[in-house]
Amino acid sequence: MKFAVRFYTKTGNTKKLAEAIANELGVQALPLSEPVTEPVDYLFLGNSFYAFTIDAEVRNFIQTLSKDKVGKIVNFGSAALLNSTYKKVKAEAQKVGIELDEKEFHCKGEFKALHKGRPNENDIKAAIEFARQYK
Ligand SMILES: Cc1cc2nc3c(=O)[nH]c(=O)nc-3n(C[C@H](O)[C@H](O)[C@H](O)COP(=O)(O)O)c2cc1C
Repeated sequence: MKFAVRFYTKTGNTKKLAEAIANELGVQALPLSEPVTEPVDYLFLGNSFYAFTIDAEVRNFIQTLSKDKVGKIVNFGSAALLNSTYKKVKAEAQKVGIELDEKEFHCKGEFKALHKGRPNENDIKAAIEFARQYK
């Protein structure tokens, strides 16, 4: 299996998850400014909620993807209040004809006084286990 990991972060939480997942998969966790140039079976895409939606940078990045290069997208991320961004990411992926894997990884993410220290050690462990099942 071939993998790539890309992430968008404002405060560092998604980067922590991305690095743990990428390390488990033997690839680098890269920001969205790095295009996916080699074909991959799974693109792990880290993103979170900001003001009830995903950032425009995430939306724009998904529109640059081609189904010749990306087999499936795997969604992962954290949020303070809402559940995952799955539906938002799926809607964008559908526009470029790429399937979003039915499995995803989501945990709480620190935001102001909420969820201090999250993702924490246990979240990171769970993210690594999540990634392991794809190998
Ligand atoms: C500007 C801003 C807006 C946010 N809006 C929401 C929101 O609408 N719903 C929610 O559940 N979390 C919200 N959050 C919390 C983030 O989703 C959460 O802190 C996440 O872990 C941030 O990931 P990051 O550190 O990779 O940017 C917001 C955070 C920031 C910084």
